[in-house]
Amino acid sequence: MKAIAVYDDGDEPVIVEKPRPEPAPGEALVRTLRVGVDGTDHEVIAGGHGGSPAGDDHLVLGHEAIGVVEDPNDTPFEAGDLVVPTVRRPPNGANEYFARGEPDMAPSGQYHERGIVGDHGFMAEYFTSPAEFLVAVPPALAEWGFLVEPASITEKAVEHAYASRSAFHWEPETALVLGNGSLGLLTVAMLDDEFDRIYCLGRRERPDPTIDVIESLGATYVDSNETPVPEVPTAHEPVDFVYEATGYAPHAFEAIEALAPNGVGALLGVPGDWAFEVDGGRLHRELVLHNKALVGSVNSGYEHFEAAVDRLSGLEESFFADLVTGVYGLDEFEAAFADDDTTIKTAVEFAAYEER
Ligand code: NAP
Ligand code: BGC
Ligand code: ZN
Repeated sequence: MKAIAVYDDGDEPVIVEKPRPEPAPGEALVRTLRVGVDGTDHEVIAGGHGGSPAGDDHLVLGHEAIGVVEDPNDTPFEAGDLVVPTVRRPPNGANEYFARGEPDMAPSGQYHERGIVGDHGFMAEYFTSPAEFLVAVPPALAEWGFLVEPASITEKAVEHAYASRSAFHWEPETALVLGNGSLGLLTVAMLDDEFDRIYCLGRRERPDPTIDVIESLGATYVDSNETPVPEVPTAHEPVDFVYEATGYAPHAFEAIEALAPNGVGALLGVPGDWAFEVDGGRLHRELVLHNKALVGSVNSGYEHFEAAVDRLSGLEESFFADLVTGVYGLDEFEAAFADDDTTIKTAVEFAAYEER
C-alpha cells in the first residue's frame, strides 16, 4: 500500500510503499478515507517537532484521520463503521496514564503520538488500531471527520480552562482566539454557542479568506499590526477567555493583559526556544490581583473526541466548505502541504466514502 512519509534527512513528504498492516488481537484494520494536515505536520516536516519510530529513518505522517473499518477482527466494530483514531499510544505497554484513560496527561517518554513522535501515522491506505483508540463517527461526518481530532484539542483546552474557573461563579461572555490558522478558525466556530462576542486575531490584511471565515461566523477580526494583543481591552473590550493558537511565544504573556479580571487563557501553540524580554513583575501582579489563570493544554482524551463529534455535528456545512480549501488525492498530495495565504485547511484523500 501507499503511504506518505518524511525521511529524517528529508524536508518534504514523499510517497513510500509499505505492506498492508495485519490487525493483532484487539485491533481493527481500517481503510483510510481522509487525513488532515495542520501546523504540527509542517513543524514535523521541518524537523522542529516530533521524530521517527526507533530504528526507522522515516515517519509516516498524519494524525487527523477518518477511516472505515475494513476488518473488525475481534473488536466490537462492524465492517463499514466510520471511525476516527486517537493519537497517543503507550510506548512500552500500558502505563498509569493510559490505564486511567488520560493519555493526554502523560509526560514525555510515556507516550508516542502517531504521525508525530515515535509511531507511524495514518497517512497510509490502511492502518490498524486497538479498538479502545477508535472513536465511532456518524455517516453525516464522513467528509469532515478528519476535523474531529483538531476539534478534540479545543474540547480539552476549554474543559481545562473552565475547570480552572470552577471554584467561583464565572459567566464568560467574551473570547479572543489568537491565530487565524486552521485550529484558530475551527475554534472560533466551536465557541460560537458559548460566547456572546468572539474576536479572532491574525496578522493578515484584507482581502483574505481567513478574515472572510471569521466574519461569516459573526466574529470580529483583530489585525495584530493595528491592535497588538495587550491593546485589545482598549480597542475592543477585556475578554474572559483567550485561546492561543499562533505558536508565537510573546502571545502567551500578552494574553494576560487582554484578559478581564477572573479570566483564563489557554495556551496551545508549540514554539521553539526563544528568549525575549517581558515585564515579569507586571504580569505576575496582574495574574494575582485579578485572579487570572493561564492553562497549557496538549493533545486530548477519548471523551474529548466524543465531544468533538457532537460539536462538529452541530456546525454548518457551509463553514466546513469555507474552512477546507482543498482535499487532494494521492496523485496530487503535495498540494495538501502547501503553506500559503490561500490555503486554510487541507486533507489527503486515500479513498472515497461509500455508505454500505
Ligand atoms: P497554523 O495553521 O500555522 O496557524 C497559526 C496561525 O497563527 C497562522 O494563521 C499565523 O498567521 C498566525 N500567527 C502566527 N504568528 C502570529 C502573530 N505574531 N500575530 C498574529 N497571527 C500570527 O497552525 P495550526 O494548525 O492552526 O496550529 C496553531 C498552533 O497550535 C501551532 O503552534 C500548533 O503547533 C499548535 N497546536 C497545538 C496543539 C496542542 O495539542 N497543544 C494541537 C494542534 C496544534 P499567518 O498564516 O498569517 O502566518
Ligand atoms: C496534535 C496533538 C499533539 C500535539 C503535540 C497536535 O497537532 O493534534 O494530538 O499532542 O500536536 O505533538
Ligand atoms: Zn494536530
